[in-house]
Amino acid sequence: MCGIVGSVGLHNPHDYILDGLKLLNYRGYDSAGLAYFEHGIKIYKDKGSVEHLETLVPHNFSSLVAIGHTRWATHGVANKTNSHPHLSYHQKITIVHNGVIENYQEIKNFLLKEKYDFYSETDTEVIANLLDYFYTKNNDMLMSIKESISLINGSYAICLFNDDHPDVLYVMKRSSPLLIGHGDGFNLVSSDASAMIKYTNKFIDLNDKEYGIVTKDNIQIFNEKGEAVNKEYISRDIADIAIDLKGYPHYMVKEIEEIPDVCAKLLSTYYKDGDYHFDKELIDALSKANHIIFIACGTSYHASLVGGRLFESFANISTSEYIASEWANHPRITGEWPFVIMLSQSGETADLISCLKIIEEKKIPSLVITNTEGSTLDRKCQYSLLLHAGKEVSVASTKAYVAQVSLLALIVGAVSKQKYIYEDLLKATSYINNVQNNIEKIRNIASNIKKSESLYFLGRGYDYLLSLEASLKLKEVSYIHSEAFPGGEIKHGPIALIDKNTPVIVFITDEENAVHMRNNIQEVVARGAKVYVISTKSLAKKDDDIVLDDFPYYLTSVVSSTFAFYLAYYTSLLKGYNVDRPRNLAKSVTVE
Ligand code: M6R
Repeated sequence: MCGIVGSVGLHNPHDYILDGLKLLNYRGYDSAGLAYFEHGIKIYKDKGSVEHLETLVPHNFSSLVAIGHTRWATHGVANKTNSHPHLSYHQKITIVHNGVIENYQEIKNFLLKEKYDFYSETDTEVIANLLDYFYTKNNDMLMSIKESISLINGSYAICLFNDDHPDVLYVMKRSSPLLIGHGDGFNLVSSDASAMIKYTNKFIDLNDKEYGIVTKDNIQIFNEKGEAVNKEYISRDIADIAIDLKGYPHYMVKEIEEIPDVCAKLLSTYYKDGDYHFDKELIDALSKANHIIFIACGTSYHASLVGGRLFESFANISTSEYIASEWANHPRITGEWPFVIMLSQSGETADLISCLKIIEEKKIPSLVITNTEGSTLDRKCQYSLLLHAGKEVSVASTKAYVAQVSLLALIVGAVSKQKYIYEDLLKATSYINNVQNNIEKIRNIASNIKKSESLYFLGRGYDYLLSLEASLKLKEVSYIHSEAFPGGEIKHGPIALIDKNTPVIVFITDEENAVHMRNNIQEVVARGAKVYVISTKSLAKKDDDIVLDDFPYYLTSVVSSTFAFYLAYYTSLLKGYNVDRPRNLAKSVTVE
Protein backbone atom coordinates (compact mmCIF):
# COMPACT_ATOMS: atom_id res chain seq x y z
CA MET A 1 0.00 0.00 0.00
CA CYS A 2 1.08 3.63 0.26
CA GLY A 3 4.63 4.48 1.32
CA ILE A 4 6.12 7.62 2.87
CA VAL A 5 9.61 9.08 2.90
CA GLY A 6 10.73 12.42 4.29
CA SER A 7 14.05 14.09 5.05
CA VAL A 8 15.25 17.17 6.85
CA GLY A 9 18.87 18.33 6.74
CA LEU A 10 20.19 16.18 3.87
CA HIS A 11 22.17 18.36 1.45
CA ASN A 12 20.59 16.97 -1.69
CA PRO A 13 17.61 14.84 -0.70
CA HIS A 14 17.02 13.72 -4.31
CA ASP A 15 18.68 10.31 -3.88
CA TYR A 16 17.18 9.47 -0.51
CA ILE A 17 13.66 10.39 -1.60
CA LEU A 18 13.73 8.61 -4.97
CA ASP A 19 15.74 5.58 -3.86
CA GLY A 20 13.56 5.39 -0.75
CA LEU A 21 10.41 5.40 -2.87
CA LYS A 22 11.91 2.65 -5.06
CA LEU A 23 12.59 0.59 -1.95
CA LEU A 24 8.94 0.98 -1.01
CA ASN A 25 7.88 -0.22 -4.48
CA TYR A 26 7.31 -3.73 -3.19
CA ARG A 27 4.35 -2.56 -1.13
CA GLY A 28 2.35 -1.97 -4.33
CA TYR A 29 1.29 1.44 -5.65
CA ASP A 30 -0.24 3.19 -8.64
CA SER A 31 1.20 6.72 -8.47
CA ALA A 32 4.12 8.55 -6.93
CA GLY A 33 5.12 12.07 -5.99
CA LEU A 34 7.46 14.28 -4.03
CA ALA A 35 7.71 17.84 -2.75
CA TYR A 36 10.46 20.10 -1.47
CA PHE A 37 11.07 23.76 -0.77
CA GLU A 38 13.39 25.73 -3.06
CA HIS A 39 12.33 29.37 -3.50
CA GLY A 40 8.80 28.16 -2.80
CA ILE A 41 7.05 24.81 -2.70
CA LYS A 42 7.85 22.45 -5.58
CA ILE A 43 5.60 19.45 -6.15
CA TYR A 44 6.13 16.72 -8.77
CA LYS A 45 3.66 13.88 -8.98
CA ASP A 46 1.92 11.62 -11.47
CA LYS A 47 0.16 8.34 -12.01
CA GLY A 48 2.65 5.53 -12.67
CA SER A 49 6.02 4.37 -11.44
CA VAL A 50 8.74 5.99 -9.36
CA GLU A 51 10.96 5.59 -12.45
CA HIS A 52 8.48 7.76 -14.34
CA LEU A 53 8.45 10.31 -11.50
CA GLU A 54 12.24 10.41 -11.66
CA THR A 55 12.07 11.64 -15.28
CA LEU A 56 9.97 14.64 -14.12
CA VAL A 57 12.15 15.72 -11.21
CA PRO A 58 15.38 17.83 -11.35
CA HIS A 59 18.55 15.86 -10.52
CA ASN A 60 19.51 18.16 -7.69
CA PHE A 61 17.45 20.11 -5.26
CA SER A 62 18.92 21.95 -2.34
CA SER A 63 16.10 21.94 0.12
CA LEU A 64 16.26 21.37 3.85
CA VAL A 65 13.01 19.43 3.71
CA ALA A 66 11.63 16.93 1.22
CA ILE A 67 8.76 14.45 1.31
CA GLY A 68 7.78 11.64 -1.05
CA HIS A 69 4.95 9.18 -1.46
CA THR A 70 3.80 6.11 -3.34
CA ARG A 71 0.00 5.92 -3.50
CA TRP A 72 -2.31 2.91 -3.68
CA ALA A 73 -5.66 4.45 -4.54
CA THR A 74 -8.41 4.29 -1.91
CA HIS A 75 -10.36 7.56 -2.26
CA GLY A 76 -10.43 8.60 -5.89
CA VAL A 77 -8.95 6.94 -8.96
CA ALA A 78 -5.23 6.77 -9.63
CA ASN A 79 -4.41 10.01 -11.45
CA LYS A 80 -2.08 12.98 -11.10
CA THR A 81 -4.55 15.14 -9.14
CA ASN A 82 -5.21 12.46 -6.54
CA SER A 83 -1.51 11.63 -6.16
CA HIS A 84 0.35 12.90 -3.11
CA PRO A 85 1.79 15.30 -1.97
CA HIS A 86 -1.29 17.50 -1.52
CA LEU A 87 -1.12 21.21 -0.95
CA SER A 88 -3.61 22.91 1.37
CA TYR A 89 -6.04 25.50 0.03
CA HIS A 90 -4.00 28.48 1.27
CA GLN A 91 -0.86 26.86 -0.14
CA LYS A 92 0.72 26.61 3.28
CA ILE A 93 0.83 22.92 4.10
CA THR A 94 2.24 20.16 1.90
CA ILE A 95 1.36 16.69 3.08
CA VAL A 96 1.78 12.98 2.34
CA HIS A 97 -0.48 10.45 4.03
CA ASN A 98 -0.89 6.67 4.38
CA GLY A 99 -4.17 5.29 5.70
CA VAL A 100 -7.84 6.11 5.48
CA ILE A 101 -9.68 8.99 7.18
CA GLU A 102 -13.09 7.59 8.06
CA ASN A 103 -14.89 10.87 8.78
CA TYR A 104 -13.29 12.83 5.91
CA GLN A 105 -16.68 13.66 4.35
CA GLU A 106 -17.95 15.21 7.57
CA ILE A 107 -14.76 17.30 7.90
CA LYS A 108 -14.93 18.23 4.23
CA ASN A 109 -18.52 19.46 4.61
CA PHE A 110 -17.42 21.63 7.51
CA LEU A 111 -14.48 23.04 5.53
CA LEU A 112 -16.66 23.69 2.46
CA LYS A 113 -18.82 25.89 4.69
CA GLU A 114 -15.63 27.67 5.72
CA LYS A 115 -15.03 28.44 2.01
CA TYR A 116 -12.34 25.84 1.38
CA ASP A 117 -12.18 24.46 -2.16
CA PHE A 118 -10.95 20.96 -2.98
CA TYR A 119 -9.17 19.84 -6.12
CA SER A 120 -8.82 16.10 -5.55
CA GLU A 121 -11.17 13.33 -4.45
CA THR A 122 -8.86 12.27 -1.62
CA ASP A 123 -9.31 12.15 2.13
CA THR A 124 -5.72 13.41 2.39
CA GLU A 125 -6.52 16.84 0.97
CA VAL A 126 -9.20 17.15 3.64
CA ILE A 127 -6.54 16.71 6.34
CA ALA A 128 -4.26 19.23 4.63
CA ASN A 129 -7.11 21.72 4.72
CA LEU A 130 -8.12 20.94 8.29
CA LEU A 131 -4.55 21.66 9.39
CA ASP A 132 -4.59 24.78 7.25
CA TYR A 133 -7.89 25.87 8.86
CA PHE A 134 -6.45 25.67 12.37
CA TYR A 135 -3.11 27.15 11.34
CA THR A 136 -4.85 30.15 9.76
CA LYS A 137 -6.52 30.78 13.12
CA ASN A 138 -3.69 30.09 15.58
CA ASN A 139 -0.48 30.38 13.53
CA ASP A 140 0.89 27.44 15.52
CA MET A 141 1.56 24.23 13.60
CA LEU A 142 1.90 21.91 16.60
CA MET A 143 -1.34 23.25 18.07
CA SER A 144 -3.04 22.80 14.70
CA ILE A 145 -1.91 19.17 14.56
CA LYS A 146 -3.15 18.55 18.09
CA GLU A 147 -6.55 20.07 17.28
CA SER A 148 -6.80 18.05 14.07
CA ILE A 149 -5.94 14.78 15.81
CA SER A 150 -8.88 15.33 18.16
CA LEU A 151 -11.24 15.51 15.15
CA ILE A 152 -9.90 12.81 12.82
CA ASN A 153 -11.17 9.23 12.92
CA GLY A 154 -9.33 6.56 11.02
CA SER A 155 -5.79 5.60 10.26
CA TYR A 156 -2.95 7.86 9.25
CA ALA A 157 0.78 8.17 9.01
CA ILE A 158 1.43 11.74 7.91
CA CYS A 159 4.54 13.73 7.11
CA LEU A 160 4.25 17.40 6.16
CA PHE A 161 5.98 20.72 5.97
CA ASN A 162 4.72 24.27 6.28
CA ASP A 163 5.66 27.02 3.86
CA ASP A 164 6.32 29.35 6.82
CA HIS A 165 8.95 26.98 8.31
CA PRO A 166 10.63 25.16 5.43
CA ASP A 167 13.36 23.78 7.69
CA VAL A 168 11.06 21.54 9.71
CA LEU A 169 9.04 18.37 9.12
CA TYR A 170 5.96 17.52 11.16
CA VAL A 171 4.74 13.96 11.67
CA MET A 172 1.56 12.42 13.05
CA LYS A 173 0.49 8.82 13.35
CA ARG A 174 -2.41 6.54 14.17
CA SER A 175 -2.78 2.86 13.18
CA SER A 176 -0.38 3.19 10.22
CA PRO A 177 3.33 2.69 10.80
CA LEU A 178 5.67 5.69 10.88
CA LEU A 179 9.32 5.75 11.91
CA ILE A 180 11.80 8.57 12.32
CA GLY A 181 15.41 7.72 11.46
CA HIS A 182 18.07 9.68 13.34
CA GLY A 183 21.25 10.74 11.52
CA ASP A 184 24.21 13.00 12.16
CA GLY A 185 22.99 16.47 11.16
CA PHE A 186 19.88 15.13 9.47
CA ASN A 187 16.73 13.19 10.31
CA LEU A 188 14.58 10.99 8.11
CA VAL A 189 10.99 9.82 8.15
CA SER A 190 9.50 6.73 6.56
CA SER A 191 6.68 4.25 6.85
CA ASP A 192 9.25 1.46 6.50
CA ALA A 193 12.73 1.07 8.01
CA SER A 194 14.04 -0.45 4.77
CA ALA A 195 13.90 2.96 3.05
CA MET A 196 16.22 4.48 5.68
CA ILE A 197 18.59 1.66 6.55
CA LYS A 198 21.30 2.88 4.16
CA TYR A 199 21.45 6.13 6.18
CA THR A 200 20.80 5.08 9.77
CA ASN A 201 19.93 2.21 12.07
CA LYS A 202 18.61 4.43 14.89
CA PHE A 203 14.85 4.79 14.80
CA ILE A 204 12.03 6.27 16.80
CA ASP A 205 8.76 4.39 16.44
CA LEU A 206 5.68 6.56 16.92
CA ASN A 207 2.70 5.31 18.91
CA ASP A 208 -0.89 5.98 18.00
CA LYS A 209 -1.99 9.61 18.25
CA GLU A 210 1.58 10.78 18.81
CA TYR A 211 2.84 13.66 16.70
CA GLY A 212 6.05 15.56 16.48
CA ILE A 213 8.38 18.12 15.03
CA VAL A 214 11.59 17.04 13.34
CA THR A 215 14.47 19.38 12.53
CA LYS A 216 17.90 18.42 11.24
CA ASP A 217 19.28 18.18 14.78
CA ASN A 218 16.26 17.55 16.92
CA ILE A 219 13.19 15.35 17.30
CA GLN A 220 10.36 16.22 19.68
CA ILE A 221 7.37 13.94 20.12
CA PHE A 222 4.07 14.70 21.89
CA ASN A 223 1.06 12.65 22.94
CA GLU A 224 -2.52 13.57 22.07
CA LYS A 225 -2.75 15.74 25.19
CA GLY A 226 0.18 17.78 23.91
CA GLU A 227 2.60 16.49 26.56
CA ALA A 228 6.21 15.88 25.49
CA VAL A 229 7.04 12.16 25.33
CA ASN A 230 10.51 10.67 25.86
CA LYS A 231 11.19 8.19 23.11
CA GLU A 232 13.88 5.52 23.09
CA TYR A 233 15.86 4.82 19.95
CA ILE A 234 15.45 1.35 18.55
CA SER A 235 17.51 -0.48 15.93
CA ARG A 236 16.52 -3.18 13.46
CA ASP A 237 18.25 -6.37 12.38
CA ILE A 238 19.68 -5.27 9.04
CA ALA A 239 19.52 -8.82 7.63
CA ASP A 240 15.78 -8.85 8.30
CA ILE A 241 15.08 -5.64 6.42
CA ALA A 242 17.65 -5.70 3.63
CA ILE A 243 16.13 -5.71 0.15
CA ASP A 244 18.58 -7.30 -2.24
CA LEU A 245 17.88 -9.53 -5.23
CA LYS A 246 21.20 -11.37 -4.72
CA GLY A 247 21.42 -12.15 -8.43
CA TYR A 248 17.90 -13.59 -8.76
CA PRO A 249 15.68 -12.16 -11.53
CA HIS A 250 12.70 -11.68 -9.17
CA TYR A 251 12.04 -11.54 -5.45
CA MET A 252 9.39 -14.25 -5.71
CA VAL A 253 11.82 -16.91 -6.92
CA LYS A 254 14.53 -15.70 -4.55
CA GLU A 255 12.11 -16.05 -1.67
CA ILE A 256 10.91 -19.49 -2.79
CA GLU A 257 14.51 -20.67 -2.93
CA GLU A 258 15.23 -19.28 0.52
CA ILE A 259 12.59 -21.57 2.06
CA PRO A 260 14.98 -24.37 3.20
CA ASP A 261 17.26 -21.79 4.92
CA VAL A 262 14.28 -20.06 6.49
CA CYS A 263 13.14 -23.39 7.95
CA ALA A 264 16.63 -24.18 9.20
CA LYS A 265 16.82 -20.81 11.00
CA LEU A 266 13.37 -21.30 12.50
CA LEU A 267 14.18 -24.77 13.77
CA SER A 268 17.45 -23.66 15.34
CA THR A 269 15.74 -20.65 16.96
CA TYR A 270 12.85 -22.53 18.51
CA TYR A 271 14.47 -25.91 19.22
CA LYS A 272 17.68 -25.95 21.23
CA ASP A 273 19.61 -28.51 23.27
CA GLY A 274 17.20 -31.30 22.45
CA ASP A 275 14.01 -29.45 23.37
CA TYR A 276 11.54 -26.83 22.22
CA HIS A 277 12.72 -23.34 23.04
CA PHE A 278 9.78 -21.00 23.77
CA ASP A 279 8.81 -18.62 26.54
CA LYS A 280 7.49 -20.98 29.23
CA GLU A 281 4.72 -18.57 30.19
CA LEU A 282 3.42 -18.64 26.58
CA ILE A 283 3.43 -22.44 26.38
CA ASP A 284 1.68 -22.65 29.78
CA ALA A 285 -0.97 -20.15 28.65
CA LEU A 286 -1.57 -22.12 25.44
CA SER A 287 -1.69 -25.43 27.30
CA LYS A 288 -4.27 -23.98 29.69
CA ALA A 289 -6.50 -22.77 26.84
CA ASN A 290 -9.49 -24.90 25.98
CA HIS A 291 -10.11 -23.15 22.68
CA ILE A 292 -7.77 -21.37 20.29
CA ILE A 293 -9.13 -18.71 17.97
CA PHE A 294 -6.99 -18.10 14.89
CA ILE A 295 -7.41 -14.77 13.12
CA ALA A 296 -5.61 -13.84 9.89
CA CYS A 297 -6.05 -12.78 6.24
CA GLY A 298 -5.04 -14.19 2.87
CA THR A 299 -2.06 -16.50 2.92
CA SER A 300 -1.68 -16.11 6.67
CA TYR A 301 -5.29 -17.30 7.04
CA HIS A 302 -4.40 -20.40 5.03
CA ALA A 303 -1.47 -21.04 7.38
CA SER A 304 -3.84 -20.65 10.33
CA LEU A 305 -6.09 -23.40 8.92
CA VAL A 306 -3.11 -25.75 9.04
CA GLY A 307 -2.22 -24.53 12.55
CA GLY A 308 -5.78 -25.16 13.76
CA ARG A 309 -5.77 -28.71 12.47
CA LEU A 310 -2.36 -29.37 14.05
CA PHE A 311 -3.56 -28.12 17.45
CA GLU A 312 -6.68 -30.28 17.27
CA SER A 313 -4.87 -33.41 16.07
CA PHE A 314 -1.72 -33.31 18.16
CA ALA A 315 -2.45 -31.12 21.19
CA ASN A 316 -6.12 -32.01 21.61
CA ILE A 317 -7.17 -28.34 21.84
CA SER A 318 -10.20 -27.29 19.80
CA THR A 319 -9.81 -24.34 17.46
CA SER A 320 -11.72 -21.96 15.19
CA GLU A 321 -10.15 -20.08 12.30
CA TYR A 322 -11.47 -16.72 11.14
CA ILE A 323 -10.75 -14.21 8.41
CA ALA A 324 -9.92 -11.02 10.32
CA SER A 325 -12.38 -8.67 8.61
CA GLU A 326 -15.21 -11.13 9.32
CA TRP A 327 -14.25 -11.71 12.93
CA ALA A 328 -14.02 -7.96 13.58
CA ASN A 329 -17.61 -7.72 12.40
CA HIS A 330 -18.86 -10.63 14.46
CA PRO A 331 -16.29 -11.45 17.16
CA ARG A 332 -17.04 -15.03 18.15
CA ILE A 333 -15.33 -16.10 21.32
CA THR A 334 -15.71 -19.76 22.21
CA GLY A 335 -14.59 -21.63 25.29
CA GLU A 336 -14.09 -20.77 28.92
CA TRP A 337 -10.33 -20.23 28.44
CA PRO A 338 -9.93 -18.86 24.93
CA PHE A 339 -6.58 -17.85 23.48
CA VAL A 340 -6.14 -15.90 20.25
CA ILE A 341 -3.37 -16.55 17.73
CA MET A 342 -2.98 -13.93 15.01
CA LEU A 343 -0.82 -14.58 11.99
CA SER A 344 0.56 -11.73 9.93
CA GLN A 345 3.67 -11.58 7.80
CA SER A 346 3.72 -7.78 7.88
CA GLY A 347 2.33 -7.29 11.37
CA GLU A 348 0.57 -4.21 9.99
CA THR A 349 -2.61 -5.58 8.42
CA ALA A 350 -5.37 -3.13 9.33
CA ASP A 351 -8.06 -5.83 9.57
CA LEU A 352 -6.02 -7.57 12.24
CA ILE A 353 -5.27 -4.39 14.12
CA SER A 354 -9.02 -3.79 14.48
CA CYS A 355 -9.39 -7.32 15.84
CA LEU A 356 -6.61 -6.67 18.34
CA LYS A 357 -8.58 -3.75 19.77
CA ILE A 358 -11.51 -6.09 20.47
CA ILE A 359 -9.20 -8.76 21.92
CA GLU A 360 -7.66 -6.20 24.27
CA GLU A 361 -11.08 -4.95 25.39
CA LYS A 362 -12.18 -8.50 26.14
CA LYS A 363 -8.87 -9.25 27.88
CA ILE A 364 -8.23 -12.45 25.91
CA PRO A 365 -4.61 -13.62 25.90
CA SER A 366 -3.10 -13.26 22.44
CA LEU A 367 -0.05 -14.27 20.44
CA VAL A 368 1.02 -12.84 17.10
CA ILE A 369 3.22 -14.80 14.74
CA THR A 370 4.84 -12.24 12.46
CA ASN A 371 7.84 -11.71 10.24
CA THR A 372 8.18 -8.04 11.12
CA GLU A 373 9.94 -7.05 14.29
CA GLY A 374 8.70 -3.75 15.65
CA SER A 375 5.47 -3.89 13.63
CA THR A 376 2.25 -2.78 15.30
CA LEU A 377 1.13 -6.33 16.07
CA ASP A 378 4.58 -7.35 17.28
CA ARG A 379 4.55 -4.46 19.71
CA LYS A 380 0.96 -4.67 20.83
CA CYS A 381 0.09 -8.34 21.18
CA GLN A 382 0.63 -9.86 24.59
CA TYR A 383 2.99 -12.46 23.11
CA SER A 384 4.89 -12.29 19.84
CA LEU A 385 6.95 -14.88 17.98
CA LEU A 386 9.04 -13.84 15.00
CA LEU A 387 9.37 -15.91 11.84
CA HIS A 388 12.95 -14.71 11.18
CA ALA A 389 12.30 -15.38 7.49
CA GLY A 390 14.11 -12.24 6.32
CA LYS A 391 12.30 -9.46 4.50
CA GLU A 392 9.63 -10.76 2.14
CA VAL A 393 9.45 -8.32 -0.76
CA SER A 394 7.36 -10.15 -3.35
CA VAL A 395 3.71 -9.24 -2.89
CA ALA A 396 2.85 -12.93 -3.19
CA SER A 397 3.81 -14.44 0.12
CA THR A 398 5.79 -17.70 -0.08
CA LYS A 399 8.54 -18.20 2.48
CA ALA A 400 6.47 -16.54 5.20
CA TYR A 401 3.67 -19.11 4.66
CA VAL A 402 6.06 -22.04 5.10
CA ALA A 403 7.63 -20.34 8.12
CA GLN A 404 4.20 -19.75 9.67
CA VAL A 405 3.15 -23.37 9.23
CA SER A 406 6.51 -24.65 10.51
CA LEU A 407 6.44 -22.41 13.56
CA LEU A 408 2.88 -23.50 14.36
CA ALA A 409 4.02 -27.14 14.16
CA LEU A 410 6.86 -26.38 16.59
CA ILE A 411 4.47 -24.65 19.00
CA VAL A 412 2.13 -27.65 18.84
CA GLY A 413 5.16 -29.88 19.53
CA ALA A 414 6.01 -27.80 22.60
CA VAL A 415 2.41 -27.71 23.90
CA SER A 416 1.86 -31.44 23.35
CA LYS A 417 5.42 -32.25 24.51
CA GLN A 418 6.01 -34.43 21.45
CA LYS A 419 9.55 -34.28 20.12
CA TYR A 420 8.77 -36.25 16.96
CA ILE A 421 7.00 -33.20 15.54
CA TYR A 422 10.35 -31.40 15.50
CA GLU A 423 12.01 -34.49 13.99
CA ASP A 424 9.31 -34.78 11.31
CA LEU A 425 9.70 -31.11 10.49
CA LEU A 426 13.46 -31.47 10.20
CA LYS A 427 12.93 -34.37 7.80
CA ALA A 428 10.25 -32.54 5.82
CA THR A 429 12.36 -29.43 5.31
CA SER A 430 15.20 -31.56 3.97
CA TYR A 431 12.81 -32.73 1.21
CA ILE A 432 11.95 -29.26 -0.05
CA ASN A 433 14.93 -29.35 -2.39
CA ASN A 434 13.38 -32.47 -3.85
CA VAL A 435 10.71 -30.25 -5.46
CA GLN A 436 13.47 -28.30 -7.21
CA ASN A 437 14.54 -31.44 -9.06
CA ASN A 438 11.18 -31.19 -10.82
CA ILE A 439 11.52 -27.63 -12.09
CA GLU A 440 11.32 -28.62 -15.76
CA LYS A 441 8.13 -30.59 -15.16
CA ILE A 442 6.62 -27.70 -13.22
CA ARG A 443 7.50 -25.33 -16.05
CA ASN A 444 5.75 -27.68 -18.50
CA ILE A 445 2.61 -27.70 -16.40
CA ALA A 446 2.79 -23.89 -16.26
CA SER A 447 3.06 -23.79 -20.02
CA ASN A 448 0.04 -26.11 -20.39
CA ILE A 449 -2.19 -24.13 -18.03
CA LYS A 450 -1.14 -20.59 -18.95
CA LYS A 451 -3.97 -20.06 -21.43
CA SER A 452 -6.68 -21.54 -19.20
CA GLU A 453 -9.46 -19.27 -18.06
CA SER A 454 -10.25 -21.30 -15.01
CA LEU A 455 -8.58 -24.03 -13.00
CA TYR A 456 -9.18 -26.16 -9.89
CA PHE A 457 -6.95 -27.45 -7.15
CA LEU A 458 -8.15 -30.53 -5.27
CA GLY A 459 -6.92 -32.27 -2.16
CA ARG A 460 -8.21 -33.87 1.03
CA GLY A 461 -7.19 -33.17 4.61
CA TYR A 462 -3.95 -31.21 4.83
CA ASP A 463 -3.66 -31.39 1.03
CA TYR A 464 -6.93 -29.47 0.78
CA LEU A 465 -5.59 -26.75 3.10
CA LEU A 466 -2.51 -26.52 0.91
CA SER A 467 -4.74 -26.37 -2.20
CA LEU A 468 -6.33 -23.19 -0.86
CA GLU A 469 -2.94 -21.51 -0.74
CA ALA A 470 -1.86 -22.95 -4.12
CA SER A 471 -5.00 -21.50 -5.66
CA LEU A 472 -4.57 -18.05 -4.09
CA LYS A 473 -0.96 -17.91 -5.26
CA LEU A 474 -1.82 -18.80 -8.83
CA LYS A 475 -4.64 -16.28 -9.10
CA GLU A 476 -2.56 -13.49 -7.50
CA VAL A 477 0.29 -13.62 -9.99
CA SER A 478 -1.13 -15.27 -13.14
CA TYR A 479 -4.66 -13.74 -13.01
CA ILE A 480 -6.13 -17.14 -13.89
CA HIS A 481 -9.40 -17.76 -12.11
CA SER A 482 -8.73 -20.61 -9.74
CA GLU A 483 -10.51 -22.32 -6.86
CA ALA A 484 -9.64 -25.01 -4.38
CA PHE A 485 -12.02 -27.70 -3.17
CA PRO A 486 -11.82 -30.72 -0.93
CA GLY A 487 -11.86 -33.76 -3.23
CA GLY A 488 -15.09 -34.96 -1.66
CA GLU A 489 -16.89 -31.69 -2.32
CA ILE A 490 -16.71 -31.38 -6.10
CA LYS A 491 -19.68 -33.64 -6.76
CA HIS A 492 -21.76 -31.35 -4.55
CA GLY A 493 -21.61 -28.56 -7.10
CA PRO A 494 -18.29 -27.48 -8.63
CA ILE A 495 -18.16 -30.49 -10.96
CA ALA A 496 -20.87 -28.75 -13.01
CA LEU A 497 -18.15 -26.41 -14.31
CA ILE A 498 -15.64 -29.08 -15.27
CA ASP A 499 -15.03 -29.70 -18.98
CA LYS A 500 -12.08 -30.32 -21.26
CA ASN A 501 -10.88 -26.74 -20.80
CA THR A 502 -10.57 -26.99 -17.02
CA PRO A 503 -7.20 -28.17 -15.74
CA VAL A 504 -7.40 -29.81 -12.33
CA ILE A 505 -4.32 -30.01 -10.12
CA VAL A 506 -4.48 -32.68 -7.45
CA PHE A 507 -2.31 -33.25 -4.38
CA ILE A 508 -2.11 -36.82 -3.01
CA THR A 509 0.36 -37.00 -0.13
CA ASP A 510 -1.81 -38.53 2.60
CA GLU A 511 -2.27 -42.30 2.63
CA GLU A 512 -5.58 -42.18 4.41
CA ASN A 513 -7.15 -40.03 1.70
CA ALA A 514 -5.33 -41.43 -1.33
CA VAL A 515 -7.96 -43.94 -2.49
CA HIS A 516 -10.81 -41.43 -2.26
CA MET A 517 -8.72 -38.84 -4.05
CA ARG A 518 -8.03 -41.26 -6.91
CA ASN A 519 -11.81 -41.76 -7.23
CA ASN A 520 -12.30 -38.00 -7.40
CA ILE A 521 -9.75 -37.88 -10.21
CA GLN A 522 -11.83 -40.39 -12.18
CA GLU A 523 -14.91 -38.20 -11.69
CA VAL A 524 -13.25 -35.14 -13.25
CA VAL A 525 -11.45 -37.13 -15.96
CA ALA A 526 -14.85 -38.53 -16.97
CA ARG A 527 -15.95 -34.90 -17.60
CA GLY A 528 -12.95 -34.29 -19.86
CA ALA A 529 -10.67 -32.44 -17.41
CA LYS A 530 -6.92 -32.55 -17.88
CA VAL A 531 -5.55 -33.64 -14.49
CA TYR A 532 -2.07 -33.04 -13.09
CA VAL A 533 -1.18 -35.14 -10.04
CA ILE A 534 1.43 -34.36 -7.41
CA SER A 535 1.93 -37.38 -5.18
CA THR A 536 4.52 -39.05 -2.95
CA LYS A 537 6.49 -42.18 -3.81
CA SER A 538 4.53 -44.68 -1.74
CA LEU A 539 1.19 -43.35 -3.07
CA ALA A 540 2.21 -42.69 -6.68
CA LYS A 541 0.62 -44.17 -9.81
CA LYS A 542 2.39 -44.61 -13.12
CA ASP A 543 1.21 -41.44 -14.84
CA ASP A 544 1.52 -39.01 -11.94
CA ASP A 545 3.16 -35.79 -13.04
CA ILE A 546 5.37 -35.02 -10.05
CA VAL A 547 6.37 -37.62 -7.49
CA LEU A 548 8.04 -36.40 -4.30
CA ASP A 549 9.89 -38.45 -1.68
CA ASP A 550 7.64 -39.55 1.18
CA PHE A 551 7.29 -37.08 4.04
CA PRO A 552 4.96 -36.87 7.06
CA TYR A 553 1.52 -36.22 5.55
CA TYR A 554 0.63 -33.39 7.97
CA LEU A 555 3.55 -31.32 6.65
CA THR A 556 2.45 -31.10 3.03
CA SER A 557 2.20 -27.31 3.40
CA VAL A 558 5.89 -27.26 4.24
CA VAL A 559 7.01 -29.46 1.32
CA SER A 560 4.47 -29.43 -1.53
CA SER A 561 3.85 -25.68 -1.20
CA THR A 562 7.14 -25.11 -3.05
CA PHE A 563 5.59 -26.86 -6.08
CA ALA A 564 2.59 -24.51 -5.87
CA PHE A 565 4.81 -21.42 -5.58
CA TYR A 566 6.96 -22.37 -8.57
CA LEU A 567 3.86 -23.17 -10.61
CA ALA A 568 2.41 -19.72 -9.91
CA TYR A 569 5.78 -18.07 -10.56
CA TYR A 570 6.40 -19.74 -13.94
CA THR A 571 2.82 -19.28 -15.11
CA SER A 572 3.09 -15.56 -14.40
CA LEU A 573 6.46 -15.32 -16.17
CA LEU A 574 5.17 -17.18 -19.23
CA LYS A 575 2.27 -14.73 -19.39
CA GLY A 576 4.69 -11.82 -19.22
CA TYR A 577 3.39 -10.33 -15.98
CA ASN A 578 5.21 -8.41 -13.27
CA VAL A 579 5.40 -11.33 -10.87
CA ASP A 580 6.66 -9.37 -7.87
CA ARG A 581 4.07 -6.64 -8.17
CA PRO A 582 0.78 -8.09 -9.36
CA ARG A 583 -1.93 -5.64 -10.37
CA ASN A 584 -4.17 -4.14 -7.67
CA LEU A 585 -2.35 -5.90 -4.83
CA ALA A 586 -0.26 -4.47 -2.02
CA LYS A 587 2.25 -6.16 0.22
CA SER A 588 0.97 -4.71 3.43
CA VAL A 589 -2.75 -4.04 3.53
CA THR A 590 -2.99 -1.11 5.89
CA VAL A 591 -6.60 -0.14 5.16
CA GLU A 592 -9.69 -2.02 6.33
O1 M6R B 1 0.90 -9.32 6.24
P1 M6R B 1 -0.23 -10.29 6.39
O2 M6R B 1 0.24 -11.70 6.51
O3 M6R B 1 -1.17 -9.92 7.51
O4 M6R B 1 -1.02 -10.18 5.03
C1 M6R B 1 -2.20 -10.90 4.83
C2 M6R B 1 -2.58 -10.91 3.37
O5 M6R B 1 -2.80 -9.62 2.90
C3 M6R B 1 -1.49 -11.57 2.51
O6 M6R B 1 -1.22 -12.87 2.95
C4 M6R B 1 -1.92 -11.62 1.03
O7 M6R B 1 -2.96 -12.53 0.88
C5 M6R B 1 -0.71 -11.96 0.18
N1 M6R B 1 -0.74 -11.19 -1.01
C6 M6R B 1 -0.65 -13.40 -0.17
O8 M6R B 1 0.26 -13.74 -1.14
